[in-house]
Amino acid sequence: MADEARQVPTATDTRILRSDYRPPDYDIDAIELDVRIDTETEVRARLQVRRCEGADPEAPLWLDARELDLRALEVDGEAVSEARIRHEAEGFYVEQLPERFELTTRCIIKPEANTALEGFYASGPMYCTQCEAHGFSRITPYIDRPDVLARFRVRLSAERVRFPLLLANGDCVERGEEGEGLHFAVWEDPFAKPCYLFAMVAGDLAVVRDSYRTSEGRDIALEFYVDHGNEGLVDHAMGALKRAMRWDEETFGLAYDLDTYMVVAARAFNMGAMENKGLNIFNSALVLASPETATDATFDAITAVIAHEYFHNYTGNRVTCRDWFQLSLKEGLTVFRDQRFSEDVLGAEVQRIDQVRMLRAMQFPEDAGPTAHPVRPEAYKEVNNFYTATVYEKGAEIVRMLHTCIGEEAFREGLRRYLSVHDGTAATIEDFVNALAEASGVDLTPFLAWYGQAGTPRLSLTREWDAEAGCMRLRFSQHTPATPGQANKKPLPIPLRLRLLDGAGEPVALPEHPARIGEDMLLMEADTLTLDVPSDQPLLPVPLLGFSAPVIVESDFNALELQRIAVQERDAFARWDALQQMQARAHAALMRDDGTVLEPLLNTLQRIAANPPEDEALTAQLLAAPRSAWLWEQYPRVDPQRFVEALEQQKLAIARALCGPLSVWAQRQPVGDEQAGERALTVLALDYLVLIDADSTRALARQRTEATNMTLSLGALTALSQTHSSDLAVASASFYERWRSQPLVLDRWFAVSAAARHTDVEALRGLLAHEDFDWQNPNRMRAVAGSFARENLAHFHTEAGYTLFAEVLERLDGSNPQLAARMSRPLLGFARLEAPWADWQREAAATLRTKTRSVHLREMLDAALD
Ligand code: TRP
Ligand code: ZN
Repeated sequence: MADEARQVPTATDTRILRSDYRPPDYDIDAIELDVRIDTETEVRARLQVRRCEGADPEAPLWLDARELDLRALEVDGEAVSEARIRHEAEGFYVEQLPERFELTTRCIIKPEANTALEGFYASGPMYCTQCEAHGFSRITPYIDRPDVLARFRVRLSAERVRFPLLLANGDCVERGEEGEGLHFAVWEDPFAKPCYLFAMVAGDLAVVRDSYRTSEGRDIALEFYVDHGNEGLVDHAMGALKRAMRWDEETFGLAYDLDTYMVVAARAFNMGAMENKGLNIFNSALVLASPETATDATFDAITAVIAHEYFHNYTGNRVTCRDWFQLSLKEGLTVFRDQRFSEDVLGAEVQRIDQVRMLRAMQFPEDAGPTAHPVRPEAYKEVNNFYTATVYEKGAEIVRMLHTCIGEEAFREGLRRYLSVHDGTAATIEDFVNALAEASGVDLTPFLAWYGQAGTPRLSLTREWDAEAGCMRLRFSQHTPATPGQANKKPLPIPLRLRLLDGAGEPVALPEHPARIGEDMLLMEADTLTLDVPSDQPLLPVPLLGFSAPVIVESDFNALELQRIAVQERDAFARWDALQQMQARAHAALMRDDGTVLEPLLNTLQRIAANPPEDEALTAQLLAAPRSAWLWEQYPRVDPQRFVEALEQQKLAIARALCGPLSVWAQRQPVGDEQAGERALTVLALDYLVLIDADSTRALARQRTEATNMTLSLGALTALSQTHSSDLAVASASFYERWRSQPLVLDRWFAVSAAARHTDVEALRGLLAHEDFDWQNPNRMRAVAGSFARENLAHFHTEAGYTLFAEVLERLDGSNPQLAARMSRPLLGFARLEAPWADWQREAAATLRTKTRSVHLREMLDAALD
C-alpha cells in the first residue's frame, strides 16, 4: 500500500515556505483515541475542534491524512457527506462547519506493512510509533502541525498474549480485561501537546525499573522497556538518566513534571531517539550497553542521547516549535544542553574537541555542499531532510555563542524566562533570543543573522610587528562564501576568545578595545577588526580558544608557530587544532608528492608523545590522524585515490615516528570501567602499529580482538581492517561467530567489514547478500551501505562503487524513503571531485534520479543535480 501510493509524484513535491506561515483556522482542545491493536489496527478518534478567533467562518478544516484507509467521518455524530469533503494527496478539507464541534473518524492501519518506520510500525516483538515530524497523520486524520496543542486521552486494547504491554504518554489511569483474550489500558497526558510528541507501544517486552527523587521530594518511576534477555544492558542508560535529571535541576532549576518516565528500546528505528512526552522511544543501539558488548564511545553517546531526550521535556515539549522552520529552537538548544551535560560528567576538554571534530566532519561539509541551508531554513519540500548537522550542531554552536556573550548566570535566567513565558505554547527562535536579551540586557538581535545565513564564515588573521613603535597589530577579517540561493553574505557577530603568547609562552593581557567583552574575549561585529597591542616583542596570537565560534580560521602561522601552540598552549582545543593544521599541511604536501613537510608534524607528535598531558583521552585526540571528511574539505577538488594514498602514507609515517611510545601503549590491557582514557590510547596505538608491516604487531592486534572488553576488541578489529593480513581474516571470522546472535554487536562487525580496506565492490555485494543482512533494519543498512560510502573511500570512489551505492538507495527508497534520503549525501559530492570520478558519480546520481519515487530522495538529488 505504502509503495503504490508513492509511485506517482504527488502534491507533496511543492515547496513549503517559511514566509507562508499562517496560524491554523481551527484548533483542537482535546483528542480521545481508541486504538484496537492488531495486524489490522482500528483507530477511532474523537476530536474537540474549535474555530480560532479571527478565522473566516467559511474556512474549511484541513486534516492531514497520509495513506489512511478512512472508514468513517462524522461531525457532531452525523456522517459528513462526500460533497463537503475535498480530497488532496496528503489530506482533505471538510467544509461548512460550526464554530465548535466534535469530529470523529475511524481508520484502519497495518503496522506490519509499514516499512517507512513512520507512524505505527512493527519492530521485533512490538508495535511502536514515530510521529515527528508528520507520522501522526499516518495513524489518524489530524491537524498535523506543531502549533496545534491538545490534551490526549488514549485507550489501547489488544490480545493479551501477543501484546501484554500497552503504553502511551502520561499516566495510566485505567486497565483491565475485555474478554476474548483482549485487555486494555487507558492513558492520559495532563500536558497539552502537539501530535508529533504522541507515542504508543504494544508488545511483549521486559521492564527494568528504578526511581528518582526530585529536589522537590517527588518520586519518579523510571522504566526501561527492552527485548527479553536485554535486562542486563540498561544500567548505563539508567544511570545517565538519573544524572541528567539531577543536572537539569541543579543547572537550570528544572525538575521532571510527570510521575513516570519511560524509555522503550526499538531495534528498527530511523534515527537516534525520540522525545515523546513521558514515553521516549530509542534506537536500541543508544540504550543497550555493557563493557562486553559496547565501546566506550557508545557509552558516551548513550549518556548524551539519554540526556538529550530528557532535556527535551522542557526545551521542545513544554515549549515547542511554532512551525518546522523553527526546528533548531528545540534541537540546537537541546544539543547545547546535552553538550554542557557531557562536558560536566565526562570532561570538558575532550568533549569540546569531540564536538568540534564532529562539526567539522559533518556540518562544515554540509555548509560547503549542494544541500547547504541556514540553521533556520527558508523552504523545504520534505522536512525530514532538514534534521541535519546544520540544524542540530551548528544550531548548538549559535546557542553557545549567545551563552558566551551573556554569561552563565544571565543565560540561566534567560532560559528560565523563555520557558515560563512560553510554557504550554509553540514558540519561535526570536522568542528564545529575546528572552536571553531581556535577561541579560544585551542586544542580541545581530545574532539572528546566524540563523538566516548558510555557509561557514572564514576568519582570516594577519599580523604585523612594528619593532620601532613597540606594537603588535592583529587584523581579523571575515568572509562567508556564497551558498546555493544565497549569493551575498553579511558580516556576522563572532565571539573571539584570544590569547597572546610572548616569546616564553606566557600570556600577555589583551589591551583595552571597544570590541572587548571579557578578559580574553572580543566580539567582532563588522567585516574587519584591528587590534593594536603595545609590546616590546612579537607576540603569537592563539585565536578561537575553545572554538568560540563555528568559523574556519585562516592564518599564516609557520610550522614553528603551530608547534609552539601545540606544545605550549593550555587550551586543549587550540593545541589539538594546531596539530590538525599541521596534519592538513602534511597531507596537502603528500598530495603533491612532497614528503618534507611531514617533519615538523612528526617532530611535534613525538614531543607530545614523550611528554603527554595527564588525560590519556586527550593524548589520544592530540595524536590521532585527522578525519578524512574534514581533510577532504581542505581541497576545492579531490582525486580520491590520491587522497587515500596520501593519508595512508601519512599514517604510516606517524606510526614509524611514534613507534616507541605506541608499542608501550599497545601492550597494555586496560579493562577497568574508569580506564576509558587508557583504552583510547591503546586502541590508537594498535591502529597505527598494524600499518607497520610486522607480524608481531598484527598478531598482538589479533589477540586483542579476543578481549572481553568491546572497546579493545572492536578497536583491534578496526585496526586490522586497514590491512589485508591473514590475522584480519581469522579475527573477523571469530568475531562474527562470537556475536552473530547479538544484533547490535553484529552491526559493528558489518560496519567494520564494509569499511575494511580490502572490501571492494564485489565484497560489498557479498555483505548485502549475507544471511544476516536485513534491508528493513536501518542500523544494519547504515552499518553496511553507510560505512562503505563514508569510510571505504578507496572502493566507494570507483565507477562500480557509485553505481552499487545508487542501486542500494533506489531499492531502499521503495521501502524507507526517509532513510534513503539521509543516506544519499555521499553521492551528492561530485562537484568537488576530479575527473573521471565527478562524471561517474554525477551519472550514478542522475540515473538514480530517474528512478526515485519519494520526494525525500528527489529533494536531495535535485539539490546536487540542478
Ligand atoms: N526529535 C528527535 C531528537 O532529536 C529526532 C527525530 C526527528 C527523530 N525525527 C525523527 C527520531 C524520526 C526518529 C525518527 O531527539
Ligand atoms: Zn532532539
